Amino acid sequence: MKLAGKVAIVTGTSPNIGGGIAEGLADEGAAVVCVDQVPENAQQCAESIKRRGGQALGIACDVTDEAQVAAMVGRARESFGGVDILVNNAGILGGLSVLEMPLERWNRQIAVNLTGTFLCTKHVARLMVELGRPGSIIVIVSTAGHQGQAGNIGYCTSKSGLLNFTRAAAMDLARHGIRVNSLTPTATDVEEGLARAEAWGRPRAERRPRLLDFAKMIPTGALPSPRHYARAAVFLASDDAEMITGMDLRVDAGAIAKYWPWVPSA
Ligand SMILES: NC(=O)c1ccc[n+]([C@@H]2O[C@H](COP(=O)([O-])OP(=O)(O)OC[C@H]3O[C@@H](n4cnc5c(N)ncnc54)[C@H](O)[C@@H]3O)[C@@H](O)[C@H]2O)c1
Repeated sequence: MKLAGKVAIVTGTSPNIGGGIAEGLADEGAAVVCVDQVPENAQQCAESIKRRGGQALGIACDVTDEAQVAAMVGRARESFGGVDILVNNAGILGGLSVLEMPLERWNRQIAVNLTGTFLCTKHVARLMVELGRPGSIIVIVSTAGHQGQAGNIGYCTSKSGLLNFTRAAAMDLARHGIRVNSLTPTATDVEEGLARAEAWGRPRAERRPRLLDFAKMIPTGALPSPRHYARAAVFLASDDAEMITGMDLRVDAGAIAKYWPWVPSA
C-alpha cells in the first residue's frame, strides 16, 4: 500500500482514464474524492471504490467555476481532513482545425483543460499550504500536447500549455513541499474503459471506429490502458517520487520517442 492514509482528488472520473486512475489510487490505500461535472461519473466512481473496500466520496463540480471548485475542496477537507494528492484529469477531447473552430468551442475547451487545472491546483495547493501538508499534484496531458495534430487546434494548444503550467506551478510550490508533475497518456485502448462502464452498471457501449490507425504506429505494438496511467500516477503521488517535480512522465508506449517516418508494424 503505497498511499495508505493519503487523500486524493481526481477530476473527470468517467469510466475511462479518470475512473481508472481513481481506482488505482484507491487500490494503493488512498481515500479518493471523485469529481465530475456529470454527477453519475462522480457518484458511480466513488461507489465502485467503496465496493472494492476503499474510501471515496463523489462530488459533482464544474472545474471551470471557481466557487464550485472552492466548495469541492472544502468538502474534501471536511470529509477527510485535508488533501495530499490532486490529479487534474478532467478534459474535453477532440476538436476542429484552426480554420473551422468556433470561438465558443475554443473558449470552453481552453476553460476546462487549462483554467480548470489552474483552479483545482490553486485551491488544493492553498489548502496544502494552510495545513502545512506536503503533497503531489499531477496534470494529465496528452501526446497531442507534444506534437501538432491536424484538426485538433484547441486540444493541442491547451495540452501543450499544461506542460509549462506544470513546470511553473512546480516552481511556485517547491518551497511548500508540493510537487507538480505531468503525466502524458496517448491514444488509449478502449476495452478497459468499456469494461469499467459495465462494472459500474452501465449498458455495454459500441466500440466507435477511430479516424487514425493508432495501433499500427505504436512502437510497442499495443496501446496503453487506464491501469497503466494509474500505476504511473501512484508512483508520482508516492514518496518514491519525492525528488521529482516539474517533470513530464510519458506513458505513451514509445509514441513521442519514435522517429516520425518509421511505421513499426510495417
Ligand atoms: N482517451 C485518450 O485516448 C486520451 C489520450 C491522451 C490524453 N487523454 C486525457 O485523459 C483525460 C481523460 O480522458 P478520457 O478519455 O477518460 O475522457 P472522458 O471524456 O471519458 O473523461 C473526461 C471527463 O471529464 C469530465 N469533464 C469535462 N468537463 C468537465 C468540467 N468542466 N468539470 C468537471 N469535469 C469535467 C467529463 O464529464 C468526463 O467524465 C483527459 O484530460 C484527456 O485529454 C486521453
